[in-house]
Amino acid sequence: MSVVALVPAAGRGVRLGADKPKALVPVKGESLLSHSVRGLLASDRVGQVIVAAPAEQRGAVQAELPDVPGVHVVSGGAERSDSVRRALGCVDELAPTARTVLVHDAARAFTPPVVIRDVVDAVERGAPAVIPVLPVADTVKEIGTGEAVLRTVDRSHLRTVQTPQGFALDVLRRAYDVAEDIATDDAGLVERLGEPVATVPGHPRALKITTEFDLAVAEAVLAATDHGG
Ligand code: CTP
Ligand code: MG
Repeated sequence: MSVVALVPAAGRGVRLGADKPKALVPVKGESLLSHSVRGLLASDRVGQVIVAAPAEQRGAVQAELPDVPGVHVVSGGAERSDSVRRALGCVDELAPTARTVLVHDAARAFTPPVVIRDVVDAVERGAPAVIPVLPVADTVKEIGTGEAVLRTVDRSHLRTVQTPQGFALDVLRRAYDVAEDIATDDAGLVERLGEPVATVPGHPRALKITTEFDLAVAEAVLAATDHGG
């Protein structure tokens, strides 16, 4: 299969405040990272997975992962973009036939496989970059000095962005080649190349687990699903 997924998992999870890196925090007896990797493999589109783990936790991360061929662990970096860059640098060696690349946060552990498939399929139909998005549910205000409201923003053209983000491999490589500063959004780097970025529908279950509240939400959703909900 010519799709490789890069999984940045090297963050410390400061906002979650657990006693271990966020990727290793368990939900229903399995780490967030392991849920993420299983989701990627369950999509039936991904042949190779390259996880960027905290350098000092590579062994622990390896032990957490499903013991299947095609799942690799490399050391991440100080910022998310450093971790993605390092994983991207290993694609030639670990996934030499890859033409399509996904970048998928370990923290979006419960992304439904349909979202992963939609992203891959759109890239394979010829889009250089594809991101899953959701409409903005809340009213959005722009604020100024002292947090005072300047104006209400028209949210009909706004979307929040999830992962996996999918790219033609050569496009993501070019984007990272010219990127100089820290980026939190890979598609943003591709936008700077002037390449079009397409969207597919995201999913509430692809939420990024950032805080304890998010973790509680994910646990509740999983429990409800287990009971046929
Ligand atoms: N990430 C990474 N390398 C880093 C920082 C982040 O691979 N140096 C990964 C995280 O592991 C996570 C994803 O990027 O899967 C999104 O980052 P975020 O949700 O911010 O996770 P953390 O950086 O771990 O959390 P926090 O910012 O609260 O410390
Ligand atoms: Mg972070």
